Order: sequence, then C-alpha cells, then structure tokens
Amino acid sequence: MVYDVILPAAGSGKRMGAGKNKLFLELKEKPILIHTLEVFEKDEWCRGIYLAVKDSEREFIQNLLKHYHITKVKAMPTGGAERQYSVQSCMKAIGNGDIVLVHDAARPFILEPTIHKLVEAAQQKGAAIAGVRAKDTMKRVEEGIIQETVDRSTLWMIQTPQAFRFELLQYAENHAEQDGFLGTDESMLVEREGEFVYMVESSYENVKITTKEDLVFGEAILNQRIG
Ligand code: CTP
Ligand code: MG
Repeated sequence: MVYDVILPAAGSGKRMGAGKNKLFLELKEKPILIHTLEVFEKDEWCRGIYLAVKDSEREFIQNLLKHYHITKVKAMPTGGAERQYSVQSCMKAIGNGDIVLVHDAARPFILEPTIHKLVEAAQQKGAAIAGVRAKDTMKRVEEGIIQETVDRSTLWMIQTPQAFRFELLQYAENHAEQDGFLGTDESMLVEREGEFVYMVESSYENVKITTKEDLVFGEAILNQRIG
C-alpha cells in the first residue's frame, strides 16, 4: 500500500507564544518538525512528503532536512493564511494520486499502526480520520450557563492524520473554495459533500503541541518510550 502525506507546517504558533514557529522548538534536543517527519521517513508505505511552509522559513527548513537526512520531501509549497489553504497548496503540488493523508506537523507522536489503519480504511471506504473517545463529562455552554449535558458515548476528539482518496479530497476542497467555506479540518469538507467519513481509534498520546504545557507532556511521552 502507498500514500502521500501532506504536512501543514506554515503556522505561526501564536498560542505557544515562543516568538517563532513552535515546530522549531525542540523535544529531546530535536525539533518537533523533525520528530514528525521521521515517522513518515521511516514508514515504507509513505511515497512522498509535501510540506507547506512559509517563504521566510524555507531555507531554514531545507537546512534541517539536510542535517537530519530527511529524503522523502517532494515539494515545499508556500502555505496560506489559513491551515486549509496550506493543505490545498500541497494538494496542487501533488497533482493526482491514490491515497493522501493530511497530518499536522505539530503532532509528532503519531504511530505507524494508526497510519496504516487509516490508509487501509481510506482505500476501502474513501475517507477515515483519527480520534479518541471524549474522557470528561461534556456540556454545551452558552454565555457561561449550561444548556445541556451531551451524551459522551457518541463524542470523539478529532486528531490527524485524516486519510482520503485523493480525488474525493480534491473535489471537496474545490467545492469549499467556490463556496468560501472554511473548515477546521479536512473531514468537514468531505462531510459537507454528504460522504461517509469513518473513525479510526487512535491514541491519547497523539497530542497536538499547542501550548507550553504540551512541551512537558511531549518530553514525558518521549522519555517513557525510550525508557
Ligand atoms: N498551519 C499551516 N498554515 C496555517 C496555519 C497552521 O500550515 N496558516 C499548520 C501549523 O504549522 C501546524 C498545523 O497546521 O502544524 C496545526 O495548526 P496549529 O496547531 O493551529 O498551529 P499554529 O497555527 O502554528 O498555532 P496557533 O494556532 O497557536 O497560532
Ligand atoms: Mg492555528
């Protein structure tokens, strides 16, 4: 089985407040971006990596790729002002394909078995995304007042990777662009086409490094893995 992976990496990491792209921060003395890239570099099913970057960071990233011997990056298109546009620029760079995965560069702890389950599900069914079951009691709140307690058994917290047949995501993206629709993930674009998107149960370890606390979790995850 083969797939191409899109890694949006053109954000600015505002919530991290590090004064630079959070993907350049290090966990165990290696940039977060490289931790993520290494997962796909090692995965034999992964044919090519498409990295959306900021023009001002391109050269720095090229040097990192060289230093860490990352060889599968096929293109580094310029990212957009929104994550969805960054992903779209990578879809254009790929052009056509079979299975495409979209994965946040800020989720370095993704494991290969989850990736493979997603690729197989997308191949068979068209679209599949990673997520975990909600753990806490969930309530809908408006203006500080509880409106209802939502049945937790049906709620999932959605992560990436999200895997699609290439043409399905391409169609959904083009349609969203025509309509001026902006989603918070690629699944939303495919859902609005009335297509089924299947859940693949992932791991609570697959966190997105977003705020300062996540760096502490991240170091702990890596320490526990290395032993
Ligand atoms: N991303 C991107 N292009 C954007 C915005 C985000 O490629 N215009 C990427 C980020 O680099 C990250 C992933 O999308 O790998 C998930 O986004 P997020 O965690 O929100 O990262 P940032 O947007 O960088 O952080 P923040 O929202 O706190 O500014
Ligand atoms: Mg963001």
